Amino acid sequence: MKLKKFNLKLKVRSLKRLDKNLLSKIFKLKKTHYKFSFSSQKIWFKNNIQKLDKHLILFNNKDVIGYNVLRFRKINFNYPKSNISNNAYIFDTIIIKNEFRSLGLSKIIMNKSINIIKKKKYISFLVCKKKMIEFYKYFNWKIIPDQKITITNFKKANRHVWMYYGKKINIKKIKKIKII
Ligand SMILES: CC(C)(COP(=O)(O)OP(=O)(O)OC[C@H]1O[C@@H](n2cnc3c(N)ncnc32)[C@H](O)[C@@H]1OP(=O)(O)O)[C@@H](O)C(=O)NCCC(=O)NCCS
Repeated sequence: MKLKKFNLKLKVRSLKRLDKNLLSKIFKLKKTHYKFSFSSQKIWFKNNIQKLDKHLILFNNKDVIGYNVLRFRKINFNYPKSNISNNAYIFDTIIIKNEFRSLGLSKIIMNKSINIIKKKKYISFLVCKKKMIEFYKYFNWKIIPDQKITITNFKKANRHVWMYYGKKINIKKIKKIKII
């Protein structure tokens, strides 16, 4: 497949600009990789997506062929003698449609996400399977030891790792990062 043949467009949308039809295309794409049914995705979406979150949607013509969401959260860095709060994004769910993989298309979404994080001066966190560490390292994400992070309303699966992107942080000096 040659990239020239495609009519690619990346759009960044907030919740109020995701209509039913577009949402259903996103759920369909996610369902090709994640085991969750359409209805459980709907419930997850309703419970977890908020108005400050950013949805990055890669189109080929009218088809949704890539997706990622940055979910807004507040964080606290706990140092031995002080606490600093910051804004953050949880980086969730990057996916490229099967037949469009290995063409470099994830870079379009990854680079845009990174630009958004940098421009806002946020920090961003993700959890991934160990086998995906190299993929994220390629985009300059770094690992954070599990014991440095606490998070509300989020369940990390076993054998997954935390990674972050954004502001330089001195992990050694930080006692805890609390994602609220
Ligand atoms: C992971 C995924 C998004 C990559 O998308 P893609 O469009 O195929 O990736 P690209 O072609 O843009 O690759 C970008 C770079 O990352 C590398 N890469 C791609 N997949 C990788 C992987 N699984 N592990 C390590 N490196 C990987 C590529 O080699 C490429 O590097 P190069 O430019 O030096 O060749 C895609 O495989 C996917 O949707 N997987 C299923 C969903 C998933 O697992 N998401 C991650 C959840 S944590």
